[in-house]
Amino acid sequence: MRSSIHQVISVGFQYDIHFTQGVFDLDNPLLAQVLQNAEEQRTQKLLFVVDSNVVKHHPGLMDAIGRFCRKHRSAIGEMSVEPLEIPGGEVCKNEPNHLQSVYEAIERGGICRHSFVIAIGGGAVLDVAGYAAATAHRGVRHVRIPTTVLSQNDSGVGVKNGVNLLGKKNFLGAFAPPWAVINDETFLTTLNQRDWLAGVSEAIKVGLVKDGEFFRILRQNAGRLVARDIDAMRQLIRRCAELHANHISSSGDPFETGSSRPLDFGHWAAHKLEQMTNFTLRHGEAVAIGIALDTTYSALIGSLKMSDAEIVHDCIASVALPVYHQAMTDVSTLLQGVEDFREHLGGRLTITMLRRFGEGYEVHEIDRDIMKQAVGVLAESRLKAVF
Ligand SMILES: NC(=O)c1ccc[n+]([C@@H]2O[C@H](COP(=O)([O-])OP(=O)(O)OC[C@H]3O[C@@H](n4cnc5c(N)ncnc54)[C@H](O)[C@@H]3O)[C@@H](O)[C@H]2O)c1
Ligand SMILES: [Zn+2]
Repeated sequence: MRSSIHQVISVGFQYDIHFTQGVFDLDNPLLAQVLQNAEEQRTQKLLFVVDSNVVKHHPGLMDAIGRFCRKHRSAIGEMSVEPLEIPGGEVCKNEPNHLQSVYEAIERGGICRHSFVIAIGGGAVLDVAGYAAATAHRGVRHVRIPTTVLSQNDSGVGVKNGVNLLGKKNFLGAFAPPWAVINDETFLTTLNQRDWLAGVSEAIKVGLVKDGEFFRILRQNAGRLVARDIDAMRQLIRRCAELHANHISSSGDPFETGSSRPLDFGHWAAHKLEQMTNFTLRHGEAVAIGIALDTTYSALIGSLKMSDAEIVHDCIASVALPVYHQAMTDVSTLLQGVEDFREHLGGRLTITMLRRFGEGYEVHEIDRDIMKQAVGVLAESRLKAVF
């Protein structure tokens, strides 16, 4: 005898991605509105998890958070535990004690499923805090306040959280949409030039696979971006975040159960290069190289004009991002990245390549000899010295 119960569960998510300046200014009500909208109850508690480099570069931040919370206490609940500072950068994803410290603060502060973890920092800190929030008590609410270009235009606006384990990027992770995202451009002013530009690669990526016009504007604005023109960067972040968010909500596969991953264009090599360089390359820099590599491969297999691939290389170099790193001389380790990517995603290997600016397509195998040739093209590139 056999029987089954067929279960269908549909869960909808929604969240807003806000753009503002001075999120903790006492006359800026945005964050209070975001937290207040939660529920008509007053017992919620708040835990702030803050990137150590943001604290260093914004010395008044911790006081401003305290003042803000005191002013809005009746509406947003209370900080039941002091803000937790964790080291910024990949180290916080690599060393498990930082994840542990977020769990301990959640426990100490009595952060329940009606309370909030509010993460302020670069993509790495957001990933750790988001993962802790997604797993503590089977998921508490988290609000993201991204402070780098990359986290404002890409990592912070999506649904993924994670930490590194066993030497592998994001080996532990959870799909957990944030309660809200608040992009405050004031934070960007203190980024060093590397981190100011690293996130531009994600905009190049999404332009190449989804919006040729955006890629064109980006090329046009390269000089302004390098010169730290905030208007050009604001425009870039806004459109990139929008394209990213649209893909997640309209692809039909927000939690990536299928194999199609257009937003991972250039990422199989990027993740491997981050590891191979012991994370001395920023994620965004590694993505720039990954884009250059897969664009070259696309040209070598005949789907893209080589002259277009060169335009992409020039674009990357024009925003002072690399197209090559010497670690790539170890091509066989680099190519192991294809296998890692296959394993991480499961299912059929699916890698996005380019047909033209604004249009990606999928391949299901990589010809190792041609990929080695693509590495060779970049090794010989006159642009490689840019980095
Ligand atoms: N969850 C996702 O979907 C997703 C997507 C893409 C990337 N990521 C992850 O994001 C991480 C990269 O994020 P990132 O590029 O923001 O780098 P990052 O988080 O490593 O930050 C770069 C550096 O800038 C510092 N910093 C942050 N804000 C600052 C500010 N306002 N002023 C001065 N310094 C500041 C950080 O402390 C760090 O030293 C990687 O771990 C990557 O894997 C996640
Ligand atoms: Zn990325």
